[in-house]
Amino acid sequence: MQEPDEPVRLLFVCLGNICRSPTAEGTMRVLVREAGLEQEVELDSAGTGSWHVGSEPDARATAAAAGRGIALEGTARRVRAEDFDDFDLLLAMDASNVDELRRMAPSESGRAKVRLLREFDAASAETGDLDVPDPYYGDGDGFERVLDHVQAACAGLLEQIRAGELR
Ligand code: 4NP
Repeated sequence: MQEPDEPVRLLFVCLGNICRSPTAEGTMRVLVREAGLEQEVELDSAGTGSWHVGSEPDARATAAAAGRGIALEGTARRVRAEDFDDFDLLLAMDASNVDELRRMAPSESGRAKVRLLREFDAASAETGDLDVPDPYYGDGDGFERVLDHVQAACAGLLEQIRAGELR
């Protein structure tokens, strides 16, 4: 973990870095801005796969997020070895992302930083179903479900940051 006066650094991770993880990054950016914590929290997102590297967020994800006042930014990049040093937590969208991240981690300490994003949503954590389902090949509703899951989890994440629990 980082020094007490350093920002908390969070990397959101999915498969392609064009749907779920940019949605989580954009959602968290709004919450952090509203909380006045921009100096305390650094955010980025990445994918475990490389198919979409350099692409902008998926237009369906961007439209759904815009409907909730959330802007999706950046272009897709793949997770790299340095991410496991540079970030305090790597927040995976589903169990397969967790498996892939654990495989990619260059060290045991890096592996320990990999968590499921929805672990931070207390209501979901009790149900045991902690995936943010991949919306890419599904119907349009999938993107709204992603936002529902991500907004609940990011609210929990912000609470833990405020409580100093991630320091
Ligand atoms: P994401 O969604 O992991 O939430 O960005 C996907 C995007 C692309 C693909 C799969 C999932 N794909 O297979 O190309």
